[in-house]
Amino acid sequence: MKSKGQSRSSKKEKRHASEIENFAPLENKTIILGVSGGIAAYKACDLASMLRRNGADVHAVLTPNAREFITPLSLSTLTRNPAHCEQYGQTENWRPEHIDLAKKADLILIAPATADIIAKLASGICDDLLSSMVLASQARVMVAPAMNPNMLNHPATQRNLDILENRFRYEIIPPEFGEVACGDVGSGKMAAVESILASVAARLLVHRTLSGKRVLITAGGTREPIDPVRFIGNRSSGKMGIAMADAAAGRGADVMLVSTVEVNRSYPVYVVETAQDMQETVEAEFDGCDALIMTAAVADFRPLRVSSQKIKKTESEDLVLELTKNPDILDLLGRVKRNDQIIIGFAAESEALLSNASQKLKRKNLDMIVANDITVPDIGFGSDDNAVIILGADGARENLPRMPKRAIAEHLCDLLAEKLSEIEKAPVS
Ligand code: CTP
Repeated sequence: MKSKGQSRSSKKEKRHASEIENFAPLENKTIILGVSGGIAAYKACDLASMLRRNGADVHAVLTPNAREFITPLSLSTLTRNPAHCEQYGQTENWRPEHIDLAKKADLILIAPATADIIAKLASGICDDLLSSMVLASQARVMVAPAMNPNMLNHPATQRNLDILENRFRYEIIPPEFGEVACGDVGSGKMAAVESILASVAARLLVHRTLSGKRVLITAGGTREPIDPVRFIGNRSSGKMGIAMADAAAGRGADVMLVSTVEVNRSYPVYVVETAQDMQETVEAEFDGCDALIMTAAVADFRPLRVSSQKIKKTESEDLVLELTKNPDILDLLGRVKRNDQIIIGFAAESEALLSNASQKLKRKNLDMIVANDITVPDIGFGSDDNAVIILGADGARENLPRMPKRAIAEHLCDLLAEKLSEIEKAPVS
């Protein structure tokens, strides 16, 4: 945080306004989006649009089979660049198109990647524009497989993926488990587009300001069981914590996410349910970490007794649940934190935002607290955006107006990197 005391300065507001307007982490990056012929090709439209909105210059290359599922027109409209399909198409340039594309790419992302394109790439076959271009390029290649689970599990596909990953050093974005288009259930669904975007950002972002730092992040809302069917929960979607983890990973941090929401990422994700589960996992990892960022909404109370059977309707109109206090994870870790560790807490408040947040900052011995007013409509819980006030233990205070959670996360990563570098420079006492 740059300044102390003053909450509003027009200079800062201008900077934040331009941060929102210019939020383009993939600016100056040229990404070739290769689309092969599977039903997941329709998701390439979303992906193309997200990559472009994040600032990338995106050029789509479709295989002939991909054109059975989506049109070049959709992709050229979404990328705002011509889409490429023909291996022997006429170009404005004298150079063959596959060489032209191969040379300008910072990254080639193939999503979805069918068993067929994976097999071609593994054996060096180049009988269409996409496979020829990959062979001709020296750019990093990322592959997001999408296919029927049996096709994915087939030894031929497994061998081909192994070649791509371990011999060619392509990055495989693992497919997810679930029901695939043909109705089969298993692993084979293409990774979520948000997850693909996060992997791309992690690969391309240059400011590796958290390189070598271990950052532990919590996300989501804990669920406290009442009986085998019911639980006490809260409205947290986990989006802020996941955005934090993606942003920190993008800067080279060694990220561990402890989350109540399942996500598929290249960094380790520990899925937990209750506050006690979260406490156990976070406590086990804390000592080895440089920073802890607690975005999770941890239930303060849990049912004192958990019924092993489903609680039945009784004659009585009322049911009384006895609750007992959960551990306060931040409070406990704030007490044992070393001087070379940074802890960032979050505070969602419905009243007296600043005084409640600053009390929590002091009480829990935090370095920073990120406070938001949950009564403001359309932001916060479940939304992609939030507006927050960041308070520092050193008295610093900063207002971030409404912006994407990812932009807030990037800003917090800047602050965290600054704090960690101050610690590194401080003389050893
Ligand atoms: N937190 C925690 N363990 C708890 C409760 C909260 O670690 N049992 C953390 C949250 O992850 C958050 C910060 O403490 O980073 C503040 O959480 P919040 O729910 O706003 O505050 P509480 O301390 O629970 O106080 P209250 O609910 O009374 O506002």
